[in-house]
Amino acid sequence: MEYYTLGRTGLKVSRLALGTMTFGDDWGWGADDAASRQIFDAYVEAGGNFFDTADLYTNGRSEEMLGRYVADAGLRDRVVIATKFSYNAEPGNPNAGGNGRKNILRAVEGSLKRLGTDYIDLYILHTWDRVTPVEEVMRTFDDLVRSGKVRHVGLSDVPAWYASRGQAIAEHRGYEPLSALQLEYNLTERSIEDEFVDLGTRHGMGVMVWSPLASGLLSGKYKPSQGAQPEGEGRLITTAGSGNPAFEKFTDRNWAIVAELEKVANALGRSMAQVAVNWIANRPGIASVLIGATKVHQLQDNLLALDFDIPGDLLDRLNAVSALPKRFPYSFFGPELQGMLNGGATVGDKPAGYAPRIITRGGGTGVGADDVPDTD
Ligand SMILES: NC(=O)c1ccc[n+]([C@@H]2O[C@H](COP(=O)([O-])OP(=O)(O)OC[C@H]3O[C@@H](n4cnc5c(N)ncnc54)[C@H](OP(=O)(O)O)[C@@H]3O)[C@@H](O)[C@H]2O)c1
Repeated sequence: MEYYTLGRTGLKVSRLALGTMTFGDDWGWGADDAASRQIFDAYVEAGGNFFDTADLYTNGRSEEMLGRYVADAGLRDRVVIATKFSYNAEPGNPNAGGNGRKNILRAVEGSLKRLGTDYIDLYILHTWDRVTPVEEVMRTFDDLVRSGKVRHVGLSDVPAWYASRGQAIAEHRGYEPLSALQLEYNLTERSIEDEFVDLGTRHGMGVMVWSPLASGLLSGKYKPSQGAQPEGEGRLITTAGSGNPAFEKFTDRNWAIVAELEKVANALGRSMAQVAVNWIANRPGIASVLIGATKVHQLQDNLLALDFDIPGDLLDRLNAVSALPKRFPYSFFGPELQGMLNGGATVGDKPAGYAPRIITRGGGTGVGADDVPDTD
């Protein structure tokens, strides 16, 4: 297992983080206590140190189970625990959810209690509530860090402008800066490439990606070669029709991506899950990949995702089938219009050696402004 510093911090995290949204069977598509503990043990055994949970997950049970496993193994100082707030905990009470100061200070106490710890390594706003000013979030984050209850802070599922403004406020007011952005990214969902990869690498936020297998669609469980329609078991079948945008994956476009992934995986002699995780982990600017599992054999499969390279021709096929159309204004940043800005002169990035290369995969750790990798 390799470790990288997260964002512009000294916090060392595994490149593969363990998502624990499946800890607990309360939602009908998770793992029971015995299976979750097996998954935890296998991940620790493989050298992993980075766990992700949320107060929302399995109604708080995920935090409680993770905290118990960490305590039983005596690992609190070895592991890095990220948890999240935003989702409402009390029907009818709008201040028991969202991102206002009152809810953050309520939520953090609940998470600390369920996790059985006196500090959270990385505390993350789960989802933009569309109303709370980012100034209020950043000031509250800073108070939590100063109080010792939280070590580092981050944002998940927010617009890029909101995260960028939050980071600028932190820098100018001397607040604790954002160290992580948690976002969906996989072969079927590449929207973050337009804004978030540059944002994270330039401004010190490690991009941690969730649902690298598109909630199981890319796991190898659904194989176009074995039938025109997805069938069988798994989260995506259980949650069909739930209306949750993260689970609406069975589209014609996505099915074409799964078909190409299957062919590429066969050509490599690797599982589809390994190829999908490898692809995402090696995209520019990706700090950590949150892998998830309901069974220990799935985790063991996914943990082998980083010990091979996908050759260029196969990579091109995955990139091509999953590419999104370039939207405005990003369509203006290609070589044609950029050439017009430079009067026809060839202008490249800084010459080699101009600035020290900093760990880009860790999300940029300092002199990173000139070190933003190209996206295709
Ligand atoms: N910030 C956010 O909004 C957000 C949102 C979602 C997730 N997350 C985080 O990201 C973590 C990972 O997300 P995810 O669970 O959606 O990841 P994922 O990798 O896209 O999906 C994992 C699921 O795919 C199936 N699977 C995984 N490996 C497999 C294999 N080798 N063979 C067959 N099936 C396999 C399992 O589900 P089945 O067995 O049921 O098919 C597993 O639960 C979560 O635990 C959570 O920590 C964050």
